[in-house]
Amino acid sequence: MTEPLEYLSPVWSHLTEIQPDHAEGIYFYDADGNRFTDFTSGIGVINTGHCHPRVVKAIQEQSKSLVFGQMNIVIPPVAAALADKLNRITPPGIDSFFFSNSGAEAVEASVKLARQATGRRGIIVFQGSFHGRTSQTMAMTTSKYIYSNDYQPLPGAIYVAPFPYSYYYGWDDEQTTEFCLKQLNTLLQGQISPGEVAAVIIEPVLGEGGYVPAPAGFIKELRKITSRYEILLIVDEVQTGFGRTGRMFAFEHAEIEPDIIVMAKGLGSGMPISGIGANQKLMDRWKPGSHGGTYGGGSAVAAAAALATIEVLLEENLVENAAARGRQLLGLLKGLGAKYPQIGDVRGLGLMAAIEFTSEGAPDQETTKSVQKACLDRNLILLTCGTFENVIRWIPPLVVTEEQVNEAFSIFQDALNGAIQ
Ligand SMILES: Cc1ncc(COP(=O)(O)O)c(C=O)c1O
Repeated sequence: MTEPLEYLSPVWSHLTEIQPDHAEGIYFYDADGNRFTDFTSGIGVINTGHCHPRVVKAIQEQSKSLVFGQMNIVIPPVAAALADKLNRITPPGIDSFFFSNSGAEAVEASVKLARQATGRRGIIVFQGSFHGRTSQTMAMTTSKYIYSNDYQPLPGAIYVAPFPYSYYYGWDDEQTTEFCLKQLNTLLQGQISPGEVAAVIIEPVLGEGGYVPAPAGFIKELRKITSRYEILLIVDEVQTGFGRTGRMFAFEHAEIEPDIIVMAKGLGSGMPISGIGANQKLMDRWKPGSHGGTYGGGSAVAAAAALATIEVLLEENLVENAAARGRQLLGLLKGLGAKYPQIGDVRGLGLMAAIEFTSEGAPDQETTKSVQKACLDRNLILLTCGTFENVIRWIPPLVVTEEQVNEAFSIFQDALNGAIQ
C-alpha cells in the first residue's frame, strides 16, 4: 500500500482502503493481486466497465492529436461529433447540447438556462433528491442534511414536493402517485404561483435518496402539469443515464419528452464530462456569454471518451444487457426479500437495484451497514443510499455477465447469512 496517506484531505470519507493497481470490467485488482468485485461502478460512472479497450484507445488516440481546445476560442471537432451523437440518442426535440465537467455543474447549467429563458425564478425539486454539492445544487438536495449542513445561506426560490416513494408511504404506486400529484398541485396553489416557476427537476429513479423508481404514471402526469403551466421539465439523468436503467435514459420508460436532460457520470466512462441537452429554440434564449467555463466542451480527450462510450453502449448492446441483467438481479433479490424479514423492500429499474432493510417497519441502518461490511470482507463492493442509509444499492457496470451476477449474488447471500445471524 502506498504511504503516507495523511496528505489527503479528511473531507473524503472512504468506504474501503483498497488502492487499486489496475481495473478491468467489473473488477479492481490491488498490487498484491487481490481481486475485488466492483458493484458500484464508481457511483454509476463506469457503465462500460473499467478500462474498456475501445474507450482507452479513444483516449490514447485523441491525446496524440488534440488534448484541449478551449470552446470560446476554437471548436474541438470531437466535441461537435459528440453533440451530433447525443442528438441521435435523445428525442427529436432535444437537439442542442452544452458541455461541462461534473453532474453538479450540469444541473446548475440547467437551472441557469431555465431561469434565464423563462424569466421565472422558482425551481421545484423532490424530497430525497440529490443534485450535487455546489451552492445551487446543495440548495436543491434533500436526500440528507449532511450535504448542506454548515453551508447556509444557500440560493433561494427552491420548493420541495414529495417524491412518489411508495414503500415509504406504505401504499401502492397508484395511491402514492395520486397523493404526490395532489401535493404538487397544492404546492402550486399555496407556496408559489405556477407562473413564477421556471422548472421542475426530477431524478426518474431517485438515486442517493434510496434507489426509488418514480412510477411511469407519475412522470407522465408531471409532464402534463408542467406543460400546462409552461414550466420546464428537467430530468436529472446524471445517475440514471447512458443505459443504466435498461433504456438509454430513464425518462424513456414513461414515454415522455423532457425539456432539458442533465447528463454526467456514465457519459465519459470516468473522464470528467457532463452536459445538458435541450431544444435549439430554448437554447437560443440563453444569452451568449452568460454561461460557460474554461473546460466544458474544450477537453477533446473527455469528448473522445464520451463518443467511444456511446458507441460501445450501442454496438455492444449494453443497454439491452442492463435490462436483462437487471431483471435477473431483481428476481434473485426478490427471492431473498421473501425469505428474510429484515428486507422490507426490493426494487429497481435495470441495473439500478436496491434492497431496503427495516426492523418493525423502521429504517434499519445497523443491519444495512453490517451486511455491506460482510460483503466487503468477501471482496464484493456495494454502496448504501437512502435518507436513513438503510438501502443497499446495486450498480454494476453494464458489461456484467449472467454468471457474474450469479456470483455476486451468492457472495451477497453468504454475507447476509453471516451478518444477520
Ligand atoms: C442524480 C445526480 N445528480 C447530480 C449529481 C452530482 O454529480 P457530480 O458529483 O458529478 O457533481 C449526482 C451525483 O451523485 C447524482 O447522482
